[in-house]
Amino acid sequence: MASVEQEYPSNNSAMVEAKGLFKSYGQVKALDDVDITVASGQVVAIVGASGSGKSTLLRCINYLDPPDKGDVWVSGHLMGMVETVSGTRKATEREIRRHRADIGMVFQHFNLFPHFTVLQNLIEAPMAVRKIARAEAVEMAKALLASVGLADKLDAFPSELSGGQQQRVAIARALAMKPRVMLFDEPTSALDPELVDEVLRVMRKLASESMTMLVVTHEMGFAEDVADRLVFFDKGKIIEEGKPAEVLRNPAQPRTKAFMQRLLRRGQ
Ligand SMILES: Nc1ncnc2c1ncn2[C@@H]1O[C@H](COP(=O)(O)OP(=O)(O)OP(=O)(O)O)[C@@H](O)[C@H]1O
Ligand SMILES: [Mg+2]
Repeated sequence: MASVEQEYPSNNSAMVEAKGLFKSYGQVKALDDVDITVASGQVVAIVGASGSGKSTLLRCINYLDPPDKGDVWVSGHLMGMVETVSGTRKATEREIRRHRADIGMVFQHFNLFPHFTVLQNLIEAPMAVRKIARAEAVEMAKALLASVGLADKLDAFPSELSGGQQQRVAIARALAMKPRVMLFDEPTSALDPELVDEVLRVMRKLASESMTMLVVTHEMGFAEDVADRLVFFDKGKIIEEGKPAEVLRNPAQPRTKAFMQRLLRRGQ
């Protein structure tokens, strides 16, 4: 019964805390004992080779793909669990969706609803999930679109927008749910180079407004300027972390060093 249940309390004040995460797909250890803590307002860049577990971490944090083992707290909720008078039990899908409402997610391939206009893309979830009245949802959508520089695209369909514009709509759509934390999974890697900056600009602004952000990215300029910390993944483990400039220029681990050198060569 909802009235006797409460959200599981956080054990600290972090916005995101994951402890001892394990996730396997068959023989592949996608996450192999990962711990990560992100304070409110912090930006963490997540870097590592293809297949090292970066996307899996984000999917475990928002419980799109729950970990095999380990705990994730987001904004004080132990994801996937509910505390009742008779003890702790697994959350239902519906309860997990409610926990997930605090988390905004932006993917590499925008994932906008193609048959919805930009405005419809932004108001659908706030109305359905947050139960916000249509007029209020429209007002909020307009303000958000203005803040990502797309006030004039309300009635456009995604197919009528450039990749950079679609990604800015996707960011605005995630923000329309008033998330406490934003997860970005390579948000600029599907874009033509000339469209990358307009998306990074929106993300920089969000960071400057103290949004808590976990960003999988290989945009090292962005990571260095914006991220408080960079974590480096290798084969399902975080093998190195620190100030982005430090990890980029002076990595301690040979694997981090080899990866950064490859990135630099590619960027030349
Ligand atoms: N749904 C799945 N089914 C089977 N294997 C999976 C699944 N998702 C991920 N994996 C495997 O888990 C490992 C980690 O994958 P993940 O997508 O997290 O890597 P990544 O670091 O995000 O890589 P990329 O940079 O290519 O996006 C890989 O070996 C991948 O093949
Ligand atoms: Mg990935």
